[in-house]
Formats: sequence, structure tokens, C-alpha cells
Amino acid sequence: MKITFLGHASLAIHVQGIDILVDPFITGNSKASNINIEALKADYILVTHAHQDHILDVEAIAKHNGSKIISNYEIVTHYNNLGIEGHPMNHGGQWDFDFGTVKYVNAIHTSSFPDGSYGGQPGGFVIEGEHKNIYIAGDTALTFDMKLIPMQTKLDLAILPIGDNFTMGIEDAIIASDFIECDKILGYHYDTFGYIEIDHDAAKRKFFEKGKDLMLLDIGAFIEL
Ligand code: NI
Ligand code: MN
Repeated sequence: MKITFLGHASLAIHVQGIDILVDPFITGNSKASNINIEALKADYILVTHAHQDHILDVEAIAKHNGSKIISNYEIVTHYNNLGIEGHPMNHGGQWDFDFGTVKYVNAIHTSSFPDGSYGGQPGGFVIEGEHKNIYIAGDTALTFDMKLIPMQTKLDLAILPIGDNFTMGIEDAIIASDFIECDKILGYHYDTFGYIEIDHDAAKRKFFEKGKDLMLLDIGAFIEL
């Protein structure tokens, strides 16, 4: 499984020969100007919630690639109405896709579309694929519900928001890492705009002091599991 950071909360995942994008917000991110969305491949686009900084490029990329949207029912319906195919899910539900199993799990956040219309309830994804399991938390507060995840899934990597203000910050993300029983964390949802700028060295040190590894990737960089 190869995971590429595309800036903010955007990820590209390559697993079992399948290309997956998560929450593509690239053309609106001045820090991601080196990424060309025309060049991105996406058999599927996973969408955690309907906020602009998670869906901005979904329509263009999906239409260009014929991608299928995996998200909550309301978001999938929104894209169905634009002529884009999707697979609707809701919290607690799991489905076996050709690249692995996806479970849509709780997140504490909100989920309106940019025009204010209802975007369902926000979520995160647990993906079990190719003998590697990951958790993409989406935008969320620290929540006790995270303790449910390791009851079923032994995680190899968790992707957690760390930018604070709109989501968990560093201290809560460290507690989340305990809840999900995963010490290997890829941070996201930081630095993109003023409210969520972080001190990288301090953040990594705080994780390190708890025996945990916080990875912060440059935009376009990847890790392989
Ligand atoms: Ni959000
Ligand atoms: Mn966000």
C-alpha cells in the first residue's frame, strides 16, 4: 500500500492495483500548486465530509477519471445528481471493495456543502487492504468512539488531523493514538491556512516523548506500508 500526501487532508492511495483519492482539495491550496489534478488517477474517491476543503476537486477529478465516490449517503446522492456514480455508506457500515474492506466510522465535526446544504454526518474510514490496515480519521475531535476501532482492526498506520482549531490538535491526537492502539501516525489537516499552522519540530517531539512516531510528509511525498 502506497500513500501519497497531496496537501491539507488530501491523499492518494495505491493498493491492489487500484487508485484511490481521499478528500481532494488541491486547486484551492496554494501550497499544493505542484500537483496537477489532471494527472491524478482515481478509480475511487473517498470523501469524509462535505466541507469545501475536502470536496473542492471531487467533481472535476471524478468526471475526468470516471471515479466512483465512496462516502455517506447524502454526499453520494449529491454527486449522483451531477452524473457521478457512487457507493453510499453510513456509520458502522462496512463493505468489501475490489481493493479491500472499508468501514465508515464516527467523526465529531460538521458536514455542510459550501452552499450550506446538508452533507450528512461526517465520518472517517478504516481500510483493510493487502494485509495492511489504516485509519483515516477525517476532520474530528478526539472521541471515545475511536476505542472501538482496535477491537476489530489492528492498525498499521493512522492518519489523524493535528492542526487544532477545527479538529484535534497535537495533544488530543496523542490520546487518539492511544485509543486506536496505533503508534505510527501520519499527520494531516495542518498548515494550509492561518488557523491551523503548527510547529513541526515541537509536534514530532511531543509524539516521540510518548514513544510514538509522527510523520509529516512534504506535499507529493509518499510512504509505503
Ligand atoms: Ni471540515
Ligand atoms: Mn477540513
